[in-house]
Amino acid sequence: MFETKRVKMYKITVVGSGNWGSVAAKLIASNTIKLDSFHDEVRMWVFEEKLPSGEKLTDVINKTNENVKYLPGIKLGKNVIADPDLENAVKDANMLVFVTPHQFMDGICKRLAGKIRADTEGISLIKGMEVTKEGPSMISTLVKKQLGINCSVLMGANIANEIAMEQFSEATVGYSQNKLAAERWVHLFNTPYFNVTAVQDVEGVELCGTLKNVVGIAAGFVDGLEMGNNTKAAIMRIGLKEMIAFSQMLFPSVKDSTYFESCGVADLITTCIGGRNRKIAEAFARNGGKRSFDELEAEMLQGQKLQGVLTAHEVHEVLSHRGLLHMFPLFSAVHAISTGQLPPSAIVKINNEKPRQVQLQSML
Ligand SMILES: NC(=O)c1ccc[n+]([C@@H]2O[C@H](COP(=O)([O-])OP(=O)(O)OC[C@H]3O[C@@H](n4cnc5c(N)ncnc54)[C@H](O)[C@@H]3O)[C@@H](O)[C@H]2O)c1
Repeated sequence: MFETKRVKMYKITVVGSGNWGSVAAKLIASNTIKLDSFHDEVRMWVFEEKLPSGEKLTDVINKTNENVKYLPGIKLGKNVIADPDLENAVKDANMLVFVTPHQFMDGICKRLAGKIRADTEGISLIKGMEVTKEGPSMISTLVKKQLGINCSVLMGANIANEIAMEQFSEATVGYSQNKLAAERWVHLFNTPYFNVTAVQDVEGVELCGTLKNVVGIAAGFVDGLEMGNNTKAAIMRIGLKEMIAFSQMLFPSVKDSTYFESCGVADLITTCIGGRNRKIAEAFARNGGKRSFDELEAEMLQGQKLQGVLTAHEVHEVLSHRGLLHMFPLFSAVHAISTGQLPPSAIVKINNEKPRQVQLQSML
């Protein structure tokens, strides 16, 4: 009898351990113990914090196999090992999954530069972008530039708590050149309740995931104003048009078809119905804009981070720099309302005629 040789070529580290980071680690860990090409152990870098009990979050995760702060009540899998030391967590890995709030990624990349294996492949599950003096940069681009590695993205209609309960959903991997690497990511994430497909449009997939949070804020305003389903649907439609126009303005290669994948309309719908951006924006509008997003985030999210307001600001920077604010009335209104320049009711007074009158592509 021959013994089957198990070749475990790939070692995974999840960089991040919030709500989605913990669910990602759980999904991956359920596959690495079954699939021959992956090491069983999944390292998860934890931004260390002390719990009210005085214990360290990392110690509690490793003792109970549960992220009691960001994903309580869900076992991650015994092969998930929490590690508070970022450099130690990544040193043996050749597949890195980035899943932190986007505002922390620049600092994380700076700490990791020169400290990862040369054969590493990355994937970003992060929704958001960086806007610098040089212009906008997607998180996958930041990873590529700062770490010198190929970076795909995974986005979709994925509210973390629902996937943690193993309710059926779908996701999209976006890649640029390396189809084999994309297929490996699909293999790593795909489960009977989490169906993953790959498309060759990394920028399109990432921008879908990033921009829908701005529309989610607008949808929350509509709920806070107690308007009905027609209004919500109108906001989603206008938002979708602006998402496509903005994406194709930054990257003309972005495909319309990407918006029909899970990362596109499906994520937009789930974000505008559920999701934390919608929830906090609803509370903001109910309070007539008198309590700030920062205050509501701290009170209602217990350490979780809101991305939509930051992204609205980043989008605003890009549009004002290019003199195109008037062509994106919904994005502009979300920024103006969230910064107190307009009341929440302004979300239903946007002038939606302008984007249709002007041929955006011909201006660029
Ligand atoms: N939660 C979801 O349903 C969901 C779904 C899809 C995508 N995402 C995206 O995943 C990314 C991560 O979100 P999440 O839900 O896992 O996180 P989260 O908002 O639940 O938690 C915040 C995380 O940030 C960490 N943190 C706080 N300060 C930090 C610092 N200075 N440096 C580094 N880390 C710090 C916290 O320890 C915690 O792990 C975001 O881009 C989000 O948009 C989330």
